[in-house]
Amino acid sequence: MHLKESRVLIVGGTSGLGLAVARAVIERGGVPFVASRRQSNVDDALAQLPGAGGIAVDLIDPASIDAMIRAAGPIDHLVYTAGENLELTPLDDLTPEVIETFWRTRYIGAISVIRATRLKLNPAGSVVLTSGTAGQRPASGWALGASICGAMDALTRELALELAPIRVNAVAPGVTRSRLWSSMSDDEVQSMYAGVGAALPVGRIGETDDVALAYVYAMEQEMATGTIITVDGGAVLV
Ligand SMILES: NC(=O)c1ccc[n+]([C@@H]2O[C@H](COP(=O)([O-])OP(=O)(O)OC[C@H]3O[C@@H](n4cnc5c(N)ncnc54)[C@H](OP(=O)(O)O)[C@@H]3O)[C@@H](O)[C@H]2O)c1
Repeated sequence: MHLKESRVLIVGGTSGLGLAVARAVIERGGVPFVASRRQSNVDDALAQLPGAGGIAVDLIDPASIDAMIRAAGPIDHLVYTAGENLELTPLDDLTPEVIETFWRTRYIGAISVIRATRLKLNPAGSVVLTSGTAGQRPASGWALGASICGAMDALTRELALELAPIRVNAVAPGVTRSRLWSSMSDDEVQSMYAGVGAALPVGRIGETDDVALAYVYAMEQEMATGTIITVDGGAVLV
């Protein structure tokens, strides 16, 4: 299904990976509809996305999710990239509140949006979720980050059966330059990018446009479902 004239709801589409997917959809003649928590981010994104629509959404409020879906109009593909800034947390600091907050957007939010969208999705369309290579290649302090990747991989495979014929796939990026890392200082983040990139077979970290191509592929191809597409510069190999 070529993306020309396709309508793509991108939850988390105002920054980073989701915004790059929105740009890629426009380049292919499709129409993105972006949603995230902050209206200011929606406004900034729409200023860069000619022809796109967008809305602010509260992912723990079913009425807000329904309003987003109504505003989006017909939906061929759902892309889910929403996630707060990553803060690495050692085991000692993993209180129930910290754990619940982390899972609320990435997991509960994803399932809530899929539940609310599924009957409206084009049966020839798809859902593309976001995982990550931390599930296979965690580092110390990554208990939450690694766990969510494992959960999204499993959810992708299960939903490929439960939502069929709608295809369900996920993209697993390695370290990719985006606002996700802005809990770190600028110096820390630049040094992390340089260190991680130098250790990779490709010699650099990912850019959001690199990873967006995998989301586009997941939407356009018509055969793969339940598949996790890794885009990590070879990180799981080294
Ligand atoms: N970048 C990487 O290196 C990398 C690697 C592997 C996996 N990932 C995963 O990919 C996903 C996207 O990352 P990214 O790099 O694109 O990050 P990003 O640039 O920070 O974008 C995250 C998006 O999610 C939205 N968001 C955050 N909390 C939200 C909430 N409670 N409700 C609705 N929207 C919310 C943000 O907008 P608002 O602030 O307006 O809500 C923003 O649009 C994350 O789940 C991340 O863990 C990223």
